[in-house]
Amino acid sequence: MRNIIILGSQWGDEGKGKIVDLFADRFDIVARYQGGHNAGHTVFIGDRKYVLKLIPSGILRPGKKAVIGNGLVIDPAALLAEIDALESAGVQVKGNLFISNRAHVLFPEHRMMEKMSEARPGRVSIGTTSRGIGPCYEDKTGRRGIRVADLLNTEFFRAQYDSVMEEKAAIARTFDIYDSSLDLRAIRDEYECFAERIRPMVCDTAALLNRAVRDGRSILFEGAQGTMLDVDHGTYPFVTSSSASAGGACTGTGIAPTRITGIIGVSKAYITRVGGGPFPTEALDSAGDRIRARGNEFGAVTGRPRRCGWFDAPLLRYTATINGFDSVVVTKLDVLDEFETIPVCTGYRIGGREVEEMPPTVAEIGRVEPILECLPGWGTSTFGISEYAALPERARQYLAFLEERTGVEIGCISTGPERNQTIVRPGSRFEKLVC
Ligand code: GDP
Ligand code: IMO
Ligand code: MG
Repeated sequence: MRNIIILGSQWGDEGKGKIVDLFADRFDIVARYQGGHNAGHTVFIGDRKYVLKLIPSGILRPGKKAVIGNGLVIDPAALLAEIDALESAGVQVKGNLFISNRAHVLFPEHRMMEKMSEARPGRVSIGTTSRGIGPCYEDKTGRRGIRVADLLNTEFFRAQYDSVMEEKAAIARTFDIYDSSLDLRAIRDEYECFAERIRPMVCDTAALLNRAVRDGRSILFEGAQGTMLDVDHGTYPFVTSSSASAGGACTGTGIAPTRITGIIGVSKAYITRVGGGPFPTEALDSAGDRIRARGNEFGAVTGRPRRCGWFDAPLLRYTATINGFDSVVVTKLDVLDEFETIPVCTGYRIGGREVEEMPPTVAEIGRVEPILECLPGWGTSTFGISEYAALPERARQYLAFLEERTGVEIGCISTGPERNQTIVRPGSRFEKLVC
């Protein structure tokens, strides 16, 4: 049995897409378990760039099955556009993609609700991706969501959609915000067309995955976002609305925790964040701009500049505990090549007192004074290096320092966006679990 979760250990964009694509050829199925098209997972194959949003990165490996699990929220228009774009780039999607009948369907009014809530005067905006993800999950937990199986049953869908919209319109009218220009009938009709296009791909993916496990097949679970954006364990309320930590892989696919054989965190050699919220090691000086420029740190979905900062060891200790990481992949080591010194945060102080645990509120995290230790840079290029022994001595010392301060093995290192620009450490736990 070999079922591995690969997920983000920071605030997203750690390079999960590259790592999942790289190791997908060693698995039979790649499954997404949460989020929606707020995710943007970039994969470079030769000079071709793919940005996967709803579809698991494993789809780029011919013959592999890709599963969109029940934990996702699906905007059918976005999904169909993604399928079309991949197919016109020569990727075989139909026949390889399986969509959960229990996943939730995202509607245009979810985007409207989000826009209204983000723009509300006096509110500190979360800086969402404006995809309607949060309001769709609100409907899910509010037990008024529409699931893929409901969408496929035209009669039930019509009644359900009209009833849900009536309730929402009544609530909106109560608060005098009803947008009467919304053509609900047209939206309903459009979604009925979407239903016919996705129908052949829809099935009970929990049953499919459990059958696969019984038959000895292996599954790679691809996380979206990152643990610090998890709705429970992240920097609430500056989080996404799903369970982006390892536990989400089970609830979001219907695979039992006892079937998971390894959990791998992905972390940049530094750290970034998009949107609002506290960020203890943010580099607000020119160093932050240098990281952004060298790492091309602009959102894969929204194009927004990512906030950049230094590696945060207490944060990784926290996310390693929440997820039970067996090993960590450190990506984008090459981005630090030209720095003379590289600060690393080894501890947190609040009001002069050292704190051991991740503070629960954004107010407290906002007051964190990071304890920084400066390490010497290596002053030479690591770009594209694929063997550990070929890394400059100081780069290896940097990685050893991160391992020591986080207590987690670094089993894999990424030195560029392409598949072959990767090091797997011989004899590592990572190698045993994933390769
Ligand atoms: P994801 O959301 O976690 O899949 O990450 P994104 O795709 O949003 O952002 C990661 C970016 O870094 C992408 O543009 C990748 O092509 C790129 N990338 C991944 N690994 C490396 C690496 O080791 N070095 C460099 N220079 N770029 C990388
Ligand atoms: P991947 O999978 C980075 C951030 C948004 C915002 C917060 C809430 O590519 O790593 P949402 O639209 O989800 O309600 O926004 O979460 N966010 C991400 N940041 N990478 C992502 O995905 C993200 N998905 C959402 O910027 O701060
Ligand atoms: Mg991304």
